[in-house]
Amino acid sequence: MTNFNNINADRYSIAPMVDVTDSTFRQIARLFTKRAMLYTEMIAADAIVHEKYHLLAYDATELPVTLQLGGNDEKKLAYACKKAQQLGYSAINLNAGCPSDKVACGQFGAILMHDPKKIASLYQAMQESVDIPVSVKTRIGVDDKDSFDFTYELVNTIYNSGCRHIVLHARKAWLNGLSPKENRTIPPLDYERVYTLKNMFKDLNITINGGILTIDEIKTHLTQVDGVMQGRAIIDNIYILASIDKEIFLDKSEIKSREQLLYEAYELYQNKFKGKVAIHHFARHLFSLFAMQKNSKIFRRYLSNHMHELGADGSVLLDAYKAMINT
Ligand SMILES: Cc1cc2nc3c(=O)[nH]c(=O)nc-3n(C[C@H](O)[C@H](O)[C@H](O)COP(=O)(O)O)c2cc1C
Repeated sequence: MTNFNNINADRYSIAPMVDVTDSTFRQIARLFTKRAMLYTEMIAADAIVHEKYHLLAYDATELPVTLQLGGNDEKKLAYACKKAQQLGYSAINLNAGCPSDKVACGQFGAILMHDPKKIASLYQAMQESVDIPVSVKTRIGVDDKDSFDFTYELVNTIYNSGCRHIVLHARKAWLNGLSPKENRTIPPLDYERVYTLKNMFKDLNITINGGILTIDEIKTHLTQVDGVMQGRAIIDNIYILASIDKEIFLDKSEIKSREQLLYEAYELYQNKFKGKVAIHHFARHLFSLFAMQKNSKIFRRYLSNHMHELGADGSVLLDAYKAMINT
């Protein structure tokens, strides 16, 4: 795990999410939380081998950041790890649990769970190539391999290869029959199984993931495991992140208001992104800033309707707010 100001940054992390957790998102997330571990989208090791280094670009303000890699070739993954270390990433994570079609065709991601020894071998090649920590993100089962014994064998095999940090999505993946989206909701969650494994592997850092919604839920999980990872809850309500430093990392800092964060996001866009990244790529990450607040739909609708207009810039964020409060 990556140490950051005495408490592991991995105590709370934002999940790797393709088309969501890009550098723009991560810089916005840093306005809300200085302490959380941020993950990149999954980047294919193949792309790095083919020198698509722009995919690894990040801004120093995002740190600590874990680069998530996908792949099934030891040498290619090791090469990508070395590149990540040179670039200053905090840690690296191997995707062995994401069931997207794109990923399955390449025989990596969740399909790797059918061969735990292969995951272990990939992990070893990756960790041997760098000094920064390498972790594995996987699930508790795949297809008909969903017994406790299978999860134990999976975790034990990865553990025996030397890995000391596993992110466990507490549901299995059904590779034949369920879409990637269905695979995030239909197979039932089994947090108890993750807790049991933590009790059996005391010196293995286990981050739990899947369906975790509130700060209270995060705190409950942290009584059983080392870290919590949240994905969709942040897309649906990004303001959860504003409480993380105080509630989870026990910082003394005040929790920023939604209005303050909106203004900081506006300034971030105007000072750093304007002219480089279109406002709609930036503002989409803030759709949920006022989730569950009065007239939040108006804020969202105003952004959707106006952020694509020619010449639109960060002001659209402030205008959307005005439209919401003046309704
Ligand atoms: C839009 C989207 C993209 C995702 N992309 C990835 C990915 O690139 N790598 C990965 O390991 N998991 C990916 N996931 C899975 C999440 O990291 C996470 O494991 C899953 O959403 C369960 O956590 P949650 O219930 O907190 O969302 C993705 C999930 C979503 C919703």
